[in-house]
Amino acid sequence: MERLPGFRDFYPEPVPHEDAWSADARHYIFDRWRSTARRYGFREYDGPPLEALELYTAKSGEEIVGQLYHFVDKGERAVALRPEMTPTLARMVAACERNYKKPIKWFAIPQLFRYERQQKGRLREHFQFNADIIGEADPAADAEMIALLIDSLRALRLTAEDFVLRLSSRRAWQQFFFQRCPDMAKAYDFYQIIDKLEREESSVSRAKLTSLGFTLDDVRAFIQASQPTAELEVVLKNLGARGLADFVKIDYNVVRGLAYYTGVVFEAFDRKGQFRAIAGGGRYDDLVKRMSAGKVDLPALGFGMGDVILCELLQARGLLPKFDAAVDVFCLIEDESLRPECLQLIAQLRDAGSVVDYCLTPTRPDKQFKRALELNATHTAKLERAPAGGVIARSKDLRSRTEQLASVAETVSLLCPGKGAATNP
Ligand code: HAM
Repeated sequence: MERLPGFRDFYPEPVPHEDAWSADARHYIFDRWRSTARRYGFREYDGPPLEALELYTAKSGEEIVGQLYHFVDKGERAVALRPEMTPTLARMVAACERNYKKPIKWFAIPQLFRYERQQKGRLREHFQFNADIIGEADPAADAEMIALLIDSLRALRLTAEDFVLRLSSRRAWQQFFFQRCPDMAKAYDFYQIIDKLEREESSVSRAKLTSLGFTLDDVRAFIQASQPTAELEVVLKNLGARGLADFVKIDYNVVRGLAYYTGVVFEAFDRKGQFRAIAGGGRYDDLVKRMSAGKVDLPALGFGMGDVILCELLQARGLLPKFDAAVDVFCLIEDESLRPECLQLIAQLRDAGSVVDYCLTPTRPDKQFKRALELNATHTAKLERAPAGGVIARSKDLRSRTEQLASVAETVSLLCPGKGAATNP
């Protein structure tokens, strides 16, 4: 049985073949995302991977709706696998916002599903770090969001030389649009053309713009001028105060493909331009209101950062650490009559917080030692019968090759210094 195209298998390192993804790298990335979000005071939330189809049909825009995995379930409900997290978040906030002080600062790492055309950096399933602030209209929130995005990439050792955040404004594009076309219904089609400007042939964009009554030259001149709006000025100043000015630039090529954005929008790209967007987001001040049929009106903004492009970028720049099994102690059971005592030692070491492994069934001593080396264990420990009776432990530091002979209790403290906080007291 083959896995479905566009889906991934995650294996522990070393991964078995080129197409396999590293479960260790995934864990490393998620860990950095989580810890950065927590440093910024964000709380973790989650929602269901399967939602009512109509959550997306009205709010996300045609492009994403065309990519939905959807079906009718056994209860005759039209359902869809979530292609993005923002509608779920807006639904959850609209339902329970009274329970939370504003602004709400939440993050999640959902797995998302989009039936995309196969292309580089685009799969049919990906994980996305989502961080959103709900209930704050001031551009200070936009700056905070952008700073979090930048710092989550810095936490993965990427620098201002590796990536840039391109800042833009839907509001600026809205003004541009309405000064030239009064037909609001066409605005979304217009944003879609701008969103694809850099990826599509000029002749295609030109023809599409002409059909809406715009000219490519006019659009290009507007992008070229890159005149920051008042709110963008505030955002730039705020980021400058944090020492993050080198990570951002105004770039009106960005408008975002999703329908619900209303204000500041942004996308992060690698500086060399080798990959598609690493992350994207912006303000969506009307979504919660629309989701709650007008009952809850809260401004909101956030971003999504995918794991696919990020992982490829980290790999290409040599920024992924070397992962191994990270075993602290490998217990050698050379005297099978001492297996119960060994199991007790193993339990004590694990309770003290160490990563401990051993051979589950009787195994030749040389094979056990080989396994300890394969797992890159820092220490081995084995129990021996003491000549005077009782049991003593012989531990070995595999880096310095030094050995210690001590009581079992002393060996536990020796092998787990500082790890004292037992998980199973
Ligand atoms: P998005 O631009 O559709 O935004 O996705 C954000 C990021 O997810 C992209 O920049 C890309 O790295 C990754 N991504 C998207 N689709 C795929 C795919 N098929 N394969 C691999 N990676 C992908 C959103 O989803 C918004 N809901 C983000 C947001 C949160 N806006 C406000 N809050």
